[in-house]
Amino acid sequence: MRSCTLKTTIHFEGNALSRLSTIEYKKVFIIADPFTVSSGLINQVTKHLDTAGAKYTVYSDVVPDPSVEKVALGVAALLREMSPCVIAVGGGSAIDLTKCVRQYANKLHPDYKPYFIAVPTTSGTGSEVTAFAVITDTEQNIKHALIDDFLLPNEAILDVEMVKSVPASITADTGMDVMAHALEAYVSTEADYFSDMYAEKATSLCKHYLVRSYKYPQTHENKAREKMHVASCLAGIAFNAVSLGLCHSIAHQLGAQFHIPHGRANAIVLPNVIAFNAEITEKTIVLENPSSCVSKYANMSRRIGLIGYDDIACVKSLNYFIRSMQIEMGMPVCVRDAIPDVSFEEYLSRLDDMAEAALLDRCTKTNPRVPTKAEVIEIFKEIW
Ligand SMILES: NC(=O)c1ccc[n+]([C@@H]2O[C@H](COP(=O)([O-])OP(=O)(O)OC[C@H]3O[C@@H](n4cnc5c(N)ncnc54)[C@H](O)[C@@H]3O)[C@@H](O)[C@H]2O)c1
Ligand SMILES: [Zn+2]
Repeated sequence: MRSCTLKTTIHFEGNALSRLSTIEYKKVFIIADPFTVSSGLINQVTKHLDTAGAKYTVYSDVVPDPSVEKVALGVAALLREMSPCVIAVGGGSAIDLTKCVRQYANKLHPDYKPYFIAVPTTSGTGSEVTAFAVITDTEQNIKHALIDDFLLPNEAILDVEMVKSVPASITADTGMDVMAHALEAYVSTEADYFSDMYAEKATSLCKHYLVRSYKYPQTHENKAREKMHVASCLAGIAFNAVSLGLCHSIAHQLGAQFHIPHGRANAIVLPNVIAFNAEITEKTIVLENPSSCVSKYANMSRRIGLIGYDDIACVKSLNYFIRSMQIEMGMPVCVRDAIPDVSFEEYLSRLDDMAEAALLDRCTKTNPRVPTKAEVIEIFKEIW
């Protein structure tokens, strides 16, 4: 038997944030990305809490890729307030910090289970609907993925007003994270009807709207940003159900060791992992025993409107398309362009540790092809 559970209530389109004006809690603890505070964006949230008559505290000690230390500080701040409702406002970093803070506050006070609402301000991680949180051990340069149903928000609010200010480069990074989530969930060893459906729709929305969303600062095309906000959430639902794969395991290492933004790292690795999983190189014309992921990648390629005369050509089209999106959005397509200050020798010296950590990463378990350490090292070398 298999099961599919969706816990989070999702509010989207229209004036989705107005949901907060009917909130029943009178004391709220907000954990917000500092940009939302300095720019005044947080007022889009607090004005509705004012209407609801709720008092709130805004805590904004949030940094990209939250660390264990930041979680400890957040737990102390939340326990001082003991608010019955917690709202995360920000990208994956603010939402993940909130998840960890709430989780550890609960571990210290088992009766304390604050209601949890996530308001994403980037369109990428899907963290607003996942039972995952990524936390960084800054001493050992390792990213740990926590998985627990308690991390799942009760509600997620997708309001385009919160993502209009995202700069083009962050739109590119976070949007490619959506592609990576959808494509990795689609070929996960756990993939099922439900996850496939969410992954297909998310990938199709990325195909049509990611580059348009990137161009938003010139075009002000709200529709593109709104669609990508939904795509991010759909991909989050897909990978929350069936997990991810080797692309994320490798990207986690690039993030922890070299601070390459999460989505940018995934974008660099994704075509190489697709090629590895499908066992298809530029020169491949025939496969003796194609793995089942070949037909899945090919199917996704056709569904989003790419062409190829057979499955192998369709997989190649998918990879060319991913690279062309990166180029159109001015993204680095290899590691050396993403970290120009790091030498190849320095990179090589960390490969062994990074490959071992990538193999141990929980995402590797559901990759459609089981990699060896030598194969992971080879991928790290290819992407340099
Ligand atoms: N929990 C999950 O399911 C999950 C999934 C994937 C990734 N992650 C984690 O999420 C983190 C990355 O999250 P992210 O990609 O959303 O980036 P982020 O939250 O780190 O934010 C990136 C930058 O964008 C800025 N920003 C955020 N919203 C903005 C807005 N509306 N306007 C202007 N600037 C804005 C932030 O201040 C920050 O400088 C990583 O730590 C990654 O490991 C978590
Ligand atoms: Zn991701």
